[in-house]
Amino acid sequence: SIVILDFGSQYNQLIARRVREMGVYAEVVPYFEPLDKILARKPKGIILSGGPASVYIEGAPTIDKELYKQGIPVLGICYGMQLTTHLMGGEVARADKQEFGKAELIIDDANSPLFKGIPNNSKVWMSHNDHVTKMAEGFVQIGHTDSCVAATYNKDLNIYCIQFHAEVTHSEHGTDMLRNFVFNVAKCEKNWSMGNYIEETIKNIKETVGDKKVLLGLSGGVDSSVAATLIHRAIGDQLTCIFVDTGLLRKDEAKKVMEVYGQNFHMNIKCVDAEERFLSKLAGVSEPEAKRKIIGKEFVEVFNEEAGKLTDVEFLAQGTIYPDVIESQSVKGPSMTIKSHHNVGGLPKEMKFKLLEPLRELFKDEVRKVGRELGIPDHMIDRHPFPGPGLGIRILGAVDKEKADILREADDIFIEELRKADLYNKVSQAFVVLLPVKSVGVMGDERTYEYTAVLRSANTIDFMTATWSHLPFDFLERVSNRILNEVKGINRLTYDISSKPPATIEWE
Ligand code: XMP
Repeated sequence: SIVILDFGSQYNQLIARRVREMGVYAEVVPYFEPLDKILARKPKGIILSGGPASVYIEGAPTIDKELYKQGIPVLGICYGMQLTTHLMGGEVARADKQEFGKAELIIDDANSPLFKGIPNNSKVWMSHNDHVTKMAEGFVQIGHTDSCVAATYNKDLNIYCIQFHAEVTHSEHGTDMLRNFVFNVAKCEKNWSMGNYIEETIKNIKETVGDKKVLLGLSGGVDSSVAATLIHRAIGDQLTCIFVDTGLLRKDEAKKVMEVYGQNFHMNIKCVDAEERFLSKLAGVSEPEAKRKIIGKEFVEVFNEEAGKLTDVEFLAQGTIYPDVIESQSVKGPSMTIKSHHNVGGLPKEMKFKLLEPLRELFKDEVRKVGRELGIPDHMIDRHPFPGPGLGIRILGAVDKEKADILREADDIFIEELRKADLYNKVSQAFVVLLPVKSVGVMGDERTYEYTAVLRSANTIDFMTATWSHLPFDFLERVSNRILNEVKGINRLTYDISSKPPATIEWE
């Protein structure tokens, strides 16, 4: 396998993906993982990722130098190159001008195994402020651009360094270079697939859990559902799932979840109808953060109560995926709370369970692949994300059952039409928002005075920034006709054409 040491680059997720796509298992671990633990994973190659720091500042992320002397080939990318240079006695300094974007790589050693089959000149993607000003002893330059040493090699230790990001598609032959490292340098074998992953994970879950009981908060979202299905495959009825119907879920959500996972997959699911509890706590509350806090707190209380009714539970399973792991580990400066997030995975740490997180190493699309292999139907796997506080933050202002029901109907029509028009998978997230604004309309000969709703659809890669979806007018027209005709309580529909930033995807 390949171990990737994570120094916090926004691209490092991609490295693991690329390697796994080659049929080789790759794991991303934080840079501060102790050397013995890294070695215990028996990697055939180690990749040091990029990262935002500068090696020469105090407290910069670093590693045990002994790592280079284990006879395991190393590939340092960007920060990984700078760190290697620095630790081995070379020099790294701030460049006169930062390099960001495409650059032309000129290969100086065409015989290098890293560059096998790659043309002497090709485009690579650069993103750095610092660069190598003096190579460490034992290193030779094997590639350059007009502004920097772009690739170095240490023959004795079998270390390769590259300043550019081979993992992004903007690097024309980047994947080929990674493939060269994985197969020509690290001599990995192609022996990994989703099927293996599932088998292996099921085996691990069995070993870890033994004859103990496991509890899981099932939200109906992709991550918790795939985690539940995988664990259920491993230990069957030793797994109990708790599904909390907050009254703020999409139309027929509880029914769908119970059908797929309860009836078809025979999972043991406790469906808790907590609609009244949530709605009564929310009554009259209109401030978005206050609503979020109430929903989050209530959720934990309901979950704890239900968990308390079970006996002998030793493990709490969660659908944590790799981006969640990174988010909670990364060293962040003091930043403003834009929204206080709540999700089903975010249960309090003080619960006295051992954690079981079988999807910790996977990225979202890999989780979806696992889900498909496990036979979960497409409509449950390709779903857009749905926020923990649910319709509570899509009904602007005070929330009540009447509004939730109106919103559910409208949202269901929007989603159904998106699916029919084959647009659902072309947008990243789509939903309806209900405004606390009434306006005058006319239906037949009668005056109406009803709510205004908003269609929201966003396209995004990482949900940090997003653009509004350019949905066709005839499609919008169809949705508008249906919602205004079929949903009692809405007489005006608008389309949200705000990008993020400055808007956010959700309205609260
Ligand atoms: P915003 O509105 O911040 O949303 O642009 C970005 C993404 O996060 C989702 N979201 C949440 N997900 N718990 C969640 O699990 C939350 O409290 C929450 N708030 C927002 C939102 O749906 C979008 O996908």
